Amino acid sequence: MADYDLVIAGGMVVTPSDMVAADIGVIGDRIAAIGLNLRGDRMIDAGGLLVMPGGVDSHCHIEQLQEGGGADEETWTTGSTSALAGGTTSVITFSTQFKGGGILGPLAEYRRRAARAMVDYAFHQIITDASDTVIFDEVPKVVESGVRSLKVFLTYDPLHLDDRQFLRVLAAARRSGAFVTVHCENYEAINWRTAALLADGRTAPKYHAWSRPSMIEREATHRAIALAELVDQPIQVFHVSCPEVAEEIDRARRRGLKVWGETCPQYFVLSAEHMDRPGFEGAKFMCSPAPRDAQASAGLWKMINDGVLDIVSSDHSGWSYDTPVGKRVNGIDAPFRDIPNGVPGLAARLPILFSEGVGKGHIDPIQFVRLTAYNPARLFGLYPRKGTIAPGADADLVLWDPQRSVTLDNATMQHVIDYTPYEGLEVTGWPVMTLRRGEVAMRDGVVRAEPGTGQFLARGPYDMIKPTGRVPFGFDASAFLV
Ligand code: URP
Ligand code: ZN
Ligand code: ZN
Repeated sequence: MADYDLVIAGGMVVTPSDMVAADIGVIGDRIAAIGLNLRGDRMIDAGGLLVMPGGVDSHCHIEQLQEGGGADEETWTTGSTSALAGGTTSVITFSTQFKGGGILGPLAEYRRRAARAMVDYAFHQIITDASDTVIFDEVPKVVESGVRSLKVFLTYDPLHLDDRQFLRVLAAARRSGAFVTVHCENYEAINWRTAALLADGRTAPKYHAWSRPSMIEREATHRAIALAELVDQPIQVFHVSCPEVAEEIDRARRRGLKVWGETCPQYFVLSAEHMDRPGFEGAKFMCSPAPRDAQASAGLWKMINDGVLDIVSSDHSGWSYDTPVGKRVNGIDAPFRDIPNGVPGLAARLPILFSEGVGKGHIDPIQFVRLTAYNPARLFGLYPRKGTIAPGADADLVLWDPQRSVTLDNATMQHVIDYTPYEGLEVTGWPVMTLRRGEVAMRDGVVRAEPGTGQFLARGPYDMIKPTGRVPFGFDASAFLV
C-alpha cells in the first residue's frame, strides 16, 4: 500500500521561498510531505511543469448584490469556473451595503448565494453608510462571524464615504480587530472634472481616464493613509495604478505604518489609449482607477521589486459588452460617467502576471508565488492553510507549463462576461491542471468541480493586522463610540 492518496511527481515545486525538484504527497485534502520518490495510490506526472500554490485572489467581485435587486452577471458557478481555469483556488469577494440599510441582511443573502461556489472563499464587508447601528452593533457581529476585513470607497456615487464616515469605519475595525481595504480616489475632484468634461461635450469612454488622472488617486491615497495613522488602523490600498501612488505607500511604510498596496494585471498591459477605441469599444477597458501609460506600468515593476506593492489581485468586475445589463445599461450613447466601471480578469490574472513578470525578467517564479498566493493569504488571515506548499496546508496546487504560449480570447477565460479586455494578448506560461484540496478541479481547460464544493474560509484574529499601538498624544479616540 502506498504512503499517500496522491503524489504529484517530478515537478519543479515553487514555494514562497524555494524552487526544488520534488514530489508532493497528499493525504485527504492536505499536503502531507514534500520529498523524493514518494509513492501514492494515484500518481500525477508533473515532469517539465512548475507546481505552485493555487492562486489566492484577494480582490474580485462575484455575484455582488446590486441595489434594487439582482446581482452581478458573474455568478458563483461561472466565477469559480473562470478562477479554476486560471489556476486560482481561493477568492475574497464582497458583501455589500446599500445606503440607509444594514449589513447583516445583505451578508446573509450573499452567504446563501456563495454556497454554490467551487473555489474556497472569504468576504470583505463593504461599508457605504457608517450609521450608528452598522458601526456600533453590526460590524462587531460581522467580524465575529469570520468576515475580518472591511472595504470602503472614497469615491463613486452612491458608495463613497466622507472623511468622518471613513474615520468611523477605521475606528470600528480597530475595536473589532478587523482589517480595512480602501478604494482611493478623490470624489469631489472627479465630479468637478467630470462636470467640466461633460459641459465641453467630451462624453466618450476615453474621457473616463481624463476625469480621474493620477493625482486624484494619489491625493486620496495620502489622505487614507493619514486618517488610518490618526486612528492607528492597518489598511491596504486597493488597485494601485501607477508609481506616484505607490510612493505614498512607500513613505508610510518607511515611517513604520502598517499600510500595504495591491496592483492588478490591467495596470501592466492596458493604458488610457485602450479607452480611445472607436464608438463604444473603449468601454471594454474602463475601470477605476483608470489604466495610465507604459511608463506607469514600467514603474509598477520597480514598486513590486522594492516590496511596496506585494499583492497582485484581479479586481475582476465583469460587465458584458453586448447585454442590456452590462456596459451599455444606460445606452450606447451614455456619457462615460454613466458606464459601469470594471474589467473581468479572474482567469487572466496568473497567466498575464507570469508572462509579463517572469517571462520578461521582472520577477522570478518565487516572487510570482508570493504576489499571487502567499502574500494575499498572509495579509488576509488565510495562511498557512492557503498560499503555500507545506505539510498541513490545503492541497491547493496549480501545475503550470512555463513554455506554453496561448493567445488570450474570451473562450479561454471561461467567465460569463461576453468579452475579455485582453483579447489577442499572447502569454507564455499556462495552467494545465488545478487541484483544489487534493481534487483535480481543472485539467487541460476542462473544469470539473461541482457547485457547492467550495468552503467558506472564516477568518479569526491574526497578528499581521494588529494596530501598532501608537496613537497621537497617547489618546485612543477609537475607544469611544462616536
Ligand atoms: O473599476 C473597478 N475597479 N470596478 C470594480 C469596483 C472597484 O472599484 O473595485
Ligand atoms: Zn475599487
Ligand atoms: Zn474592486
